[in-house]
Amino acid sequence: MTDMKKTDGLSQNNPMDEFKRARLLSRQGGGEKRIKSQHEKGKMTARERIDTLLDKGSFQELGSLATHQVTDFGMAEKRFPGDGVVTGIGKINGRRVAVYAQDFTVLGGSFSQVQAQKINRIQDLALESGIPIVGLNDSGGARVQEGVRSLAAYGEVFARNVKASGVIPQISVIMGPCAGGAVYSPALTDFTVMVDGTSAMFLTGPGVVASVTGEKVSAQELGGSDVHSARSGNAHFRAHCDAEALALVQLILGYLPSNTQEDAPVIASNDPVDRRDDALNDVVPSDEGSAYSMREVLETIFDRGSLLEVHREFAPNAIVAFARLGGRSVGVVSNEPSFMSGVLDINSSDKISRFVRFCDTFSLPVITFVDCPGYLPGVDQEYNGVIRHGAKIIYAYCESTVPKISVVTRKAIGGSYVALGSRQMGTDVTLAWPTAQIAVMGPEGAAPLINGRQICEASNPDMERQRFIQEYRQRFFNPYRAADIGQIDEVIEPRETRFQLAQALDLLQTKVVNVVPKKHGLFPV
Ligand code: HXC
Repeated sequence: MTDMKKTDGLSQNNPMDEFKRARLLSRQGGGEKRIKSQHEKGKMTARERIDTLLDKGSFQELGSLATHQVTDFGMAEKRFPGDGVVTGIGKINGRRVAVYAQDFTVLGGSFSQVQAQKINRIQDLALESGIPIVGLNDSGGARVQEGVRSLAAYGEVFARNVKASGVIPQISVIMGPCAGGAVYSPALTDFTVMVDGTSAMFLTGPGVVASVTGEKVSAQELGGSDVHSARSGNAHFRAHCDAEALALVQLILGYLPSNTQEDAPVIASNDPVDRRDDALNDVVPSDEGSAYSMREVLETIFDRGSLLEVHREFAPNAIVAFARLGGRSVGVVSNEPSFMSGVLDINSSDKISRFVRFCDTFSLPVITFVDCPGYLPGVDQEYNGVIRHGAKIIYAYCESTVPKISVVTRKAIGGSYVALGSRQMGTDVTLAWPTAQIAVMGPEGAAPLINGRQICEASNPDMERQRFIQEYRQRFFNPYRAADIGQIDEVIEPRETRFQLAQALDLLQTKVVNVVPKKHGLFPV
């Protein structure tokens, strides 16, 4: 209930006092007790979050006095200016951004018709002005007292999320509960950041799960940041606390243009593009069975400290990341040979294809590093649709028109060669290290397949098999057969990779592609 005590001393009929009273009330959220409880949970209030996110003094609030008009269920007594959400426009590092922050101290941040109208207004302004929108979620879901009105209100937000998709960056930060219909707005936006311990996202809470399926699970076990970062893939980033989550939002936006008509900002870099790192020449172990860290390779090649991984814990056999080269933003895709040999499976296909599509939408060149034995074989993968999911990578690369460069560092076997950065996927410049192995299949499978009869008839089949494996390896397990036929543009010294990529990016800056007009294709979801 609104706390009138705080406005004592202000007269009723003086316009300036009326204004001060309204301003004061709108700043009080749900009152001191609830703010204290919010802090005790380790959470900032909505206004503190906005202050932390935006450049100092840049926030222009809109709709601070909007209040629900519901009178049923005792709601006439529960009117709070702003109705549980703070909305407005501000700046991050000098660039404009729209922001809304749900205020859990007011009716649990529950989502009402007025909340929706305020958020919709910010969504419309962001789209019309071509600026990113950031939603800070902390809410108990649809305001029960408003019934269908709050359901329809969610629909209004979702429709605008979809309209803005592929036009402006949309980032959702989950900083408390995000339950029921509320989960679908983050799922429709580009990136979701979750805060460890305090955020939880689920369609139905632990109580409903227990009553419907009998499963006993806590809110964190059901929808905490661990679950959505590592298992479901619904969260792209996670942070230890509110402040870290907000810093991540600032960081992410730094790689992106404000809308699809603009270019991403170029950040002055003092890391020379012709820096050559000799250690790269020896990074791929001579023993084929040994792994190496692709993450370390990427950190060496791109501007120092610029690699920002997306979906770090989800499908760790692949890496997708923002990075800079010579100060320019790029999207990086790679396999991670140190996890499951960097194989492609259902989750890594989702991870890679989503990121490639995002980069294409926001005009970030895509640089792909390949070290992959192929798609993961297995009954489980087949039953769960590895064909359909695997096709997403092919679709995403083929439909993208941004500059694309690939570097094969070691294995590029079978489907992985085709799907990840082959010329046929529209890759503009294809490079390979001398350690590259570009072939239809591995020698252990290929040799018996093409020399089966000779092996069977040999006096020592095992020895003959090994001989054919060695022969196959020597003939096909290198980059030169692919370079012979122009599938690889150049075999390069690994330490030259940074410079070669910078040159290719320079060349492709002015790339123009003619696209066949169509409404939209059918992405294999
Ligand atoms: C109205 C709500 C509310 C809601 C919380 N409150 N959620 N009021 N509608 N959805 C109010 C509480 O009554 C309480 O008011 C205050 O907010 C704080 O809530 P608490 O429960 O005391 O807080 P806490 O113990 O921290 O628990 C937070 C919570 C819990 C886990 C989020 O409130 C909860 O489970 N809420 C419901 C979650 C849910 O199932 N939502 C789905 C709604 S259906 P007072 O005045 O007592 O302090 C939905 C479908 C939409 O969203 C589909 C669209 C497509």
